[in-house]
Amino acid sequence: MIEQTLTLPCGHTVANRLCKSAMTEGLADAHDHATAAHQRLYSTWARGGAAILMTGNIMIDRRYLERSGNVVLEDDAGLPALRAVAQAVHEGGSQLWAQISHPGRQCPRLANLTPLAPSEVQLNMVGNFGKPRAASEADIQDIIGRFAHTAALVKEAGLDGVQGDVCVGGPAVLAPVTPGRPRPPSRCPCPFVVDVPPPFGARPPRPPMKMANRRGV
Ligand SMILES: Cc1cc2nc3c(=O)[nH]c(=O)nc-3n(C[C@H](O)[C@H](O)[C@H](O)COP(=O)(O)O)c2cc1C
Repeated sequence: MIEQTLTLPCGHTVANRLCKSAMTEGLADAHDHATAAHQRLYSTWARGGAAILMTGNIMIDRRYLERSGNVVLEDDAGLPALRAVAQAVHEGGSQLWAQISHPGRQCPRLANLTPLAPSEVQLNMVGNFGKPRAASEADIQDIIGRFAHTAALVKEAGLDGVQGDVCVGGPAVLAPVTPGRPRPPSRCPCPFVVDVPPPFGARPPRPPMKMANRRGV
């Protein structure tokens, strides 16, 4: 079964049931662009035969990184380098999907002393993370726009799909240990999941690009 094709609910068919999960690389250059090291790494993985290689988290906003060395895709400048990685993966027979991400409170002090997160609840992990500023509604709209913009750039770079990583910031809202933002009861507590419009929106009828959430649907 593992070698059989799989058609995702979005209509996209992948060659088998193997997907290399997102693993942050920390290999970007000083401009936050992908490098020859990414090409080498991903072309090696492509030879392993997985239908999909998911990138490590590609950040939608260079002010808020998950670590130094993250690839950031905010504008055209990052496209050629990412295109070269996609090409290396395609030559190896896999697809390359981008995990696009905002770190929420999991943004280390070295990247930003004041992360932007769903709430002010700080991530208490060896003093590595500053106290976040709680995102305003305007911030949320900005983040949603950035996810959509980065998704469009991913497509332009020739990658095959995107996965929205709202889980780094999302748990600050969703987990019972971190009091989240007050929300109208009818609304999903994680607005990023429901409000992001196409081309990144949650399961539009026939998107111009293949999409999946972390469960692959
Ligand atoms: C080195 C490393 C880096 C990771 N980076 C990411 C990442 O960028 N984004 C993400 O969503 N998960 C990341 N993860 C989590 C993995 O994608 C995966 O969900 C996790 O390792 C559990 O899968 P497993 O049980 O097969 O190991 C990372 C895991 C490891 C070990």
